[in-house]
Amino acid sequence: MMNRTEAEKYLVAGVNSPVRAYKHVQDAPVFIERAEGAEVIDTEGNRLIDFIMGWGPLILGHAHPAVVKAAQQSLANGALFGLTHPAEVHLAKKIVEAVPSVERVRFTVSGTEACMTAVRLARHVTGCSKVLMIHGGYHGHSDALLVGQTQGIPDSIATETLHVPFGDMAALQKVFTEHGKELACFILEPVAANMGVMEPDLAYLKQARQLTQDTQTLLIFDEVVTGFRLHYGCAQTLFDVTPDLTTFGKIIGGGLPIGAVGGSQKLMSHLAPEGQVYHGGTFAGSPVSMAGGLAALNALQQEGVYAKINALAESLQKGLLSVAQQCDVPLKIHRQGSMLTVFFSDGPIQGVDSVSNSQRDVFAAWIRGLRKAGVLAPPSPYEGWFISTAHTQEHMDRVIEISESLWSADVNVKIK
Ligand SMILES: Cc1ncc(COP(=O)(O)O)c(C=O)c1O
Repeated sequence: MMNRTEAEKYLVAGVNSPVRAYKHVQDAPVFIERAEGAEVIDTEGNRLIDFIMGWGPLILGHAHPAVVKAAQQSLANGALFGLTHPAEVHLAKKIVEAVPSVERVRFTVSGTEACMTAVRLARHVTGCSKVLMIHGGYHGHSDALLVGQTQGIPDSIATETLHVPFGDMAALQKVFTEHGKELACFILEPVAANMGVMEPDLAYLKQARQLTQDTQTLLIFDEVVTGFRLHYGCAQTLFDVTPDLTTFGKIIGGGLPIGAVGGSQKLMSHLAPEGQVYHGGTFAGSPVSMAGGLAALNALQQEGVYAKINALAESLQKGLLSVAQQCDVPLKIHRQGSMLTVFFSDGPIQGVDSVSNSQRDVFAAWIRGLRKAGVLAPPSPYEGWFISTAHTQEHMDRVIEISESLWSADVNVKIK
């Protein structure tokens, strides 16, 4: 059986991505053996209801039969050609048909790579070097988009990235007044999902569109999480705000590694080899990812998918708020469609700093308590819970029931 000591011997902190180390909630990493539907089975044989769902891609649940079948068939035909194949065109066409602002697509292997490429494209097209993003936003781990969140970025690069506080229209106006002419792009998630879920202010998104248009700055919507999660046409269709470029990832691969940049014919034509902005990759457009993505998007086009997962998420939100009120727990839940984050805070949560200042110990104790009772929830208040079509009302009820028993027993004292 795998254990933490063994893992830490060979992998940094025993993991390949920091949040998996469970440090935010002072717990040990989970080792997953396999997963099916809405559940994962750990290496000790425990079955847990999963709300992490691969951090968003698994909107159809784990091991969805159509995705598994498509990926298996594709793999059997050859893992990789390093040359073009029809499924790339089919998936690109599907995205173009779903998202009106996207006329052409370039596939990458990750969301990080998609955002990095979109920024490079914006810098070339505008002739400007500065990048604007939301303080606390996450767009993968390229240098330009991780300034202030890691060591190892030279000052010469760090000074090219500007930050604005989440949802602050006056601050946005100010930065555009002062730096509008130097900005290559404003990149943001239409619904932030990496400072916990932050529900959008439509007026803010519209202001972002107007200011970028006025200054010929490119507006990039990072829909790596929100793409095909909130609506089949993605968040931009739901909110009717049209970006210049869109980045995708997660759901469009059905759980297999993927990313993509999309935009107008004209903008996308600047990518090599039509244009001069280089992007390429051994695994870009990987056949198995394309096959998994196509199967996933086909399944998402079925009637009632979004209504079902949104309703489940709403019932979880309502149920948790109701028991929190009974138990006098200061709960705040931000939900957009089928993704949500639970915060423990007396005051409102608006942006990353208020998440950092929320009651993190109470949050950690709750997450540990849920895990002990068979529920795997994101072990960080900066992440979202994701509901899939494999979840049921019983799964929601179970979380509410466990939370009620934890909170009525006093979460701080009893859960260690
Ligand atoms: C909004 C957003 N953009 C970009 C990324 C980076 O994607 P990836 O992890 O596939 O590199 C993530 C990852 O979680 C994300 O949430």
